[in-house]
Amino acid sequence: MDDWVVLWEWVMIAVRWTHVITAMAWIGSSFYFIALDLGLRRDVPLPPGANGEEWQVHGGGFYHIQKYLVAPASLPEHLIWFKWESYTTWMSGFAMLVLVYYMGAQFFLIDPAVMDLSVWQAVAISMGSLAFGWIAYTTICRVFVNANQTAVMVALFALLVAMSWFYVHVFSGRAAMLHLGAFTASIMSGNVFFIIMPNQRIVVADLKAGRTPDAKYGKIAKQRSTHNNYLTLPVIFLMLSNHYPLIFATPYNWVIASLVFLMGVTIRHWFNTRHAKKGSPHWTWAVTALLFLIIAWLSTAPMTHPQEDSKLEGPALVYASAKGFDDVVTIIQGRCSMWHAREPAYEGIHWAPKGVVLETPSDIAREARRIYVQAGITHAMPPANLSYIEPQERAAIVKWFRGAGMAGIDG
Ligand code: HEM
Repeated sequence: MDDWVVLWEWVMIAVRWTHVITAMAWIGSSFYFIALDLGLRRDVPLPPGANGEEWQVHGGGFYHIQKYLVAPASLPEHLIWFKWESYTTWMSGFAMLVLVYYMGAQFFLIDPAVMDLSVWQAVAISMGSLAFGWIAYTTICRVFVNANQTAVMVALFALLVAMSWFYVHVFSGRAAMLHLGAFTASIMSGNVFFIIMPNQRIVVADLKAGRTPDAKYGKIAKQRSTHNNYLTLPVIFLMLSNHYPLIFATPYNWVIASLVFLMGVTIRHWFNTRHAKKGSPHWTWAVTALLFLIIAWLSTAPMTHPQEDSKLEGPALVYASAKGFDDVVTIIQGRCSMWHAREPAYEGIHWAPKGVVLETPSDIAREARRIYVQAGITHAMPPANLSYIEPQERAAIVKWFRGAGMAGIDG
């Protein structure tokens, strides 16, 4: 393969695919066990030590599940652990963070108009913030383990709001929203890796040694698992936010992200109450709808855009200096800028699609790789070739981009 960009795109596709699959597996099994746990029946004859049971029908068979709250009297011969769904989600998510935001830091992570960071400073803040998140969160849980659990959730919410504000003041809007998602998801994976699994291993070791396991391990694991349950939906929202500039490129993005955490609670509360057969608290949908409307309204504030003539460095500077750049600027300004503008001139388009602005030469140099992939080697852009880009114009984009590659850009 002589084209590193094509190879690079396929690496991204493979890792993103893996990440979404593992995330589905984790969240799917997590939702399943939460619903199972809440729906267990205790009003039926149960074997000694059992805390509840459920009959389920699925895929042509019947399942009979019984829960032993602390542990069964002896260790079963076959025990299935659920942990790799979480670990692989974190590992593939971190790989995405490296591929998209660390290796493309100058394009996606750093916005000099927000904070003029070097790549290494930005990467250090990113990694440090994830580690800080776990330490801060687990300290809150340890200090308040026996306190009112609602107070713990409020403290956690305050931490998330603070981080939301922090991220939008150091990174680009897109990176800020994604980091808040990664911060939260890392807490969730930390719960599995540092708390839930080790506690379960202690219980298993006790069983093997013939000791009676302490119920406190199960209690702590349950607290963490409940937090994970309420954090899941906001994480998915934040992970998807990179597609929608209305979420990440508006001045109130950090308020929007904070409110999304409340929607995570109201939506899960409805399902959790239903699964526990304690009724249908429909008011939660009214609150969710209200929060959603507030979020949509906040997003109507004028968009924030990259500075028109922000200084070019690194790869963007090489693309701007490469042979054929002036022609490419003319092509892009003629065929794409009517949509991809700070204030689009195309009827029915109110903001630059995906927040990608292609107005000035600096904008175009910064988006070189995406232009090459979307309008050079593929025909994804313009959609349905609405602006009649010519084959020779696509060829000019390809020639310019590859020429810049030969001039020294390799990744
Ligand atoms: C509960 C756990 C998680 C879930 C459910 C989840 C879900 C997702 C989904 C569905 C996407 C695809 C977005 C899209 O392309 O449309 C995504 C992207 C991504 N995720 Fe996660 N994720 C989780 C954890 C993590 C973690 C722990 C990290 C980092 C440490 C992470 C980093 C990323 C990155 C960098 C992207 C690419 C975003 C972009 O292109 O701007 N994720 N995630």
